Amino acid sequence: MTARTYKIAILAGDGIGKEVVPAGLAAIEAAIKNTGITIEWTELPWGCDYYLEKGRMMDEDGFERAATFDAIYLGAIGSPKVPDHIAVWDLLLPLRQRFQQYVNLRPMRLLPGLTSPLANRTSADIDMVCVRENSEGEYSGVGGRVHVGTGHEVAIQTGVFTRTGIERIVRYGFEVASKRPRKMLASATKSNALRHAMVMWDEVADIVAKDYPQVEYRKYHVDAIAARMVTNPGSLDVIVCSNLFGDILTDIGSAISGSLGIAPGANINPERTFPSMFEPIHGSAPDIAGKGIANPIGAIWAAAQMFDHLGQRDVHDRILGAVERVLAKGTVKTPDLGGKATTKELAAAVVSEI
Ligand code: NAD
Ligand code: IPM
Ligand code: MN
Repeated sequence: MTARTYKIAILAGDGIGKEVVPAGLAAIEAAIKNTGITIEWTELPWGCDYYLEKGRMMDEDGFERAATFDAIYLGAIGSPKVPDHIAVWDLLLPLRQRFQQYVNLRPMRLLPGLTSPLANRTSADIDMVCVRENSEGEYSGVGGRVHVGTGHEVAIQTGVFTRTGIERIVRYGFEVASKRPRKMLASATKSNALRHAMVMWDEVADIVAKDYPQVEYRKYHVDAIAARMVTNPGSLDVIVCSNLFGDILTDIGSAISGSLGIAPGANINPERTFPSMFEPIHGSAPDIAGKGIANPIGAIWAAAQMFDHLGQRDVHDRILGAVERVLAKGTVKTPDLGGKATTKELAAAVVSEI
């Protein structure tokens, strides 16, 4: 444990983001007690409410301000009152792209004490990490619409895949795999149908694989890997994939781990030129927002990931260890996990366990 002061931005955002972020903050405060670590918190009031008031999702100098932090702790972005593509493209995706957070690291584990919707699975069966490309691919934002509203309207949405972008994410995937006990990497492709981008993806992945003979490397088409996550998740360890594929596969991974409220995601700029950003993988969940029943585990786990990235592995372990022990006891669970506890009750249980 190294004594240090960190400047961290809190971007709670919208819907249940505002409910799960306080849970994560409470866990952090408990975990850094008596460690010499201090945190200067700054709340960024950005998001859909901010948009409805000011006509923009973030401050005009938002990127410059956000760049001054050591890390950004995010809840969720999105509201039924604001078109999703505006909310996402005026805040979330530009942050990931401009801050070169090209790695999205999303662990998916069936934690002891939780029940998978898949029959007869235990925590030994579901322990995967998705290494998702987070800055280009299907999410490049390139394209346009013409003849809008007419019968011959055309929309073009272009995937942008660069050799550099593929090479660095696949290498990151191999690095993660090489440090895990099973040392397996599955590359999600679709080179049968996507004959330009995914053929290049496979070629680059094959080249990078040569540097990691100790890692068992396989390619699966993304449809087959989606099925495999359901039928035989134990055969998967680390999955490296494109932006959109990773989005879909991690919702499956979190769901089979018990709930969409479980999995966290670290948006990492490995070079540390810019702050990295940590968030649960779920969204703002308008259907349950305001009820106080959102599962805070994804957000708390994301807080743990943030301290791992900041070089404070002990804080990570303290937070995640407490989560694991609370869930293993099985007495405090939110409704998505089959319990009756509120967000605050589950957060309080984690805090007192820490
Ligand atoms: P969602 O993840 O918000 O919700 C999907 C379903 O999962 C809902 O039924 C919801 O109640 C449930 N759920 C999600 N998180 C939960 C939690 N912590 N505890 C209990 N149940 C939980 O996805 P959606 O409905 O597709 O999207 C809603 C909004 O969120 C949209 O505006 C979307 O664009 C946005 N979104 C944002 C992010 C992000 O900020 N990173 C991620 C996904 C979706
Ligand atoms: C996620 C979300 C985002 C994504 C949306 C809100 C753009 O679904 O973080 O998983 O697709 O990356
Ligand atoms: Mn998603």
